[in-house]
Amino acid sequence: MPGAIPQHFIDELLSRADIVEIIGRRVPLKKAGREFQACCPFHTEKTPSFTVSPTKQFYHCFGCGAHGTAIGFLMEYDRLSFPEAIEELATSMGLEVPREVGFEQGPDNRPLYDMLERAAQLFANNLRQHPDAPTAIDYLRGRGVSGEVAARFRMGYAPPGWDNLLQALGTDDKHIGWLRDAGLITEQDNKRYDRLRERIIFPIRDTRGRVVGFGGRLLGDGKPKYLNSPETPVFHKGRELYGLYEARQADANPARLLVVEGYMDVVALAQYGIDNAVATLGTATTSDHLEKLYRATPEVVFCFDGDRAGRDAAWKALQTALPLMRDGRQARFLFLPDGEDPDSLVRSIGREAFLERIAQAQPLSEFLFEKIGTQTDMGTLDGRARLGELAKPLLERLPAGLYRDMMFQALNERIGLQAAPVQAAAAPKPARRAPIRRPQGSVPPVRRAVALLIQNPELAQLDLPEGWQSFESPGIALLAELLSTLRTSPQMSTGALVERADDAQTRQTLAKLAVLELGILDDAAEQFLGTLRMLGAEKTRAEREALLTKSRASELTEEEKQRLRELYRAPGAQ
Ligand code: UTP
Ligand code: MN
Repeated sequence: MPGAIPQHFIDELLSRADIVEIIGRRVPLKKAGREFQACCPFHTEKTPSFTVSPTKQFYHCFGCGAHGTAIGFLMEYDRLSFPEAIEELATSMGLEVPREVGFEQGPDNRPLYDMLERAAQLFANNLRQHPDAPTAIDYLRGRGVSGEVAARFRMGYAPPGWDNLLQALGTDDKHIGWLRDAGLITEQDNKRYDRLRERIIFPIRDTRGRVVGFGGRLLGDGKPKYLNSPETPVFHKGRELYGLYEARQADANPARLLVVEGYMDVVALAQYGIDNAVATLGTATTSDHLEKLYRATPEVVFCFDGDRAGRDAAWKALQTALPLMRDGRQARFLFLPDGEDPDSLVRSIGREAFLERIAQAQPLSEFLFEKIGTQTDMGTLDGRARLGELAKPLLERLPAGLYRDMMFQALNERIGLQAAPVQAAAAPKPARRAPIRRPQGSVPPVRRAVALLIQNPELAQLDLPEGWQSFESPGIALLAELLSTLRTSPQMSTGALVERADDAQTRQTLAKLAVLELGILDDAAEQFLGTLRMLGAEKTRAEREALLTKSRASELTEEEKQRLRELYRAPGAQ
């Protein structure tokens, strides 16, 4: 891997690039007021809801929610990785991407990808041309796989023989070394032979469509039924998902993705026009898998056997999913009838009935409470208290947000009001403060301040009032960071600010705020200063309220009276 791209270059690139021009070269844009519009390239629509803002250097689709900068657009539209999108953008502007020095130069994996691609071509050709191809084709036909679906998944065939691949691709020592490193051949007792022989081949592609490994199934019975590529520099079972690339080809923004167990489950579902299934590769679902899935969809539906082992596996998946259940993400569980897998089930009940089952899949919350509910007697107070004890550590793994709050609420409802409500340890105690006046609609003040700033980066250059930093809200740190970024780089656009955030969650938040309708025409500066003043006054107000409340119950000390007088003189006192 080449050295990291310095942040200043990315900032520079975004400040020079024109998003209208970059998107305009790929999607026909029409001018509409100060912005540009088109039918969204990321979902199907008849009336344009995709807008590109030259002032914000940002695109946003009000239909599907897609959004981002020029870099984000290139990643999504041209299916590029982040460094590739930077390269593309820089090249189109005649710039050279600098690389940070002192960065370990990683190994060059290109020859491995190359060998894997060539192997995939050979396997696929065998399915058409090899003298034994009819056996393989019969097997696939027997399992209901059409030529069209086989082609879509680039399925292939490894004929009998110990060294077909080795002979074809291992032309010299260098190539033999690459075949070995790509996991295509094995070496034993100084002998080398093809790893996959006499098997139906399922190429595993990464999200960019590169072949990174293979699965191979015996045509008949025997052991092992499936053989997979070993871990290699380009293939990690804990990260790859079979079928994810194909699912995203069928629909770039699927409403949900199904996680199934087997290659054949993915293929069979596709055969029935259910194109959104992915399979783990003989391993449990990892957090890396889930992160990958939630980058592609808001909802993941796990399909498991209804038997004991399947339920245990589902419970494990739930535990892996908990810390990743940010607001807006969903997980559900579909338990299959005994002895069925998605492949056999869809064949027996058909597409519509299968889709119906997916629609009825159990939400994570329900599965969670049902599972721990079976471990306690909900009819007794002790049992309900025990439910709280069991659930609390699980719910505490949820990230902060509305979903977590709702889960705690649901737990308290189940326990009943007799018992003391369970509080999340990490969540701060709700401060008893008077409601904040929100004259401008329902946007809370910190969000409003961040939104104003990100939409109008020049506000950072104003003389700001003091005291807003003491307002207790996680958004304050973000606001401070944005201000400090803008003070050092005043030329940054809305889009560049969004792109600069280091984590996906912050980027998502900022992207939403970048297009939040604030109903402001030209008094953004006054609004911003006013919001900051209100935040600054909040601490004063809270302290004053507390002293006043106390004064009603008991006499205040001299110091407290003095303090109260000061507070009445402080800003925001009225
Ligand atoms: P299953 O045994 O459920 O396979 O294993 P399946 O997909 O239903 O296979 P068919 O229908 O008999 O063809 C599920 C997954 O577990 C892994 C594979 O990834 C497989 O798709 N597995 C299974 C192996 O890696 N090796 C094996 O020997 C068996
Ligand atoms: Mn099966």
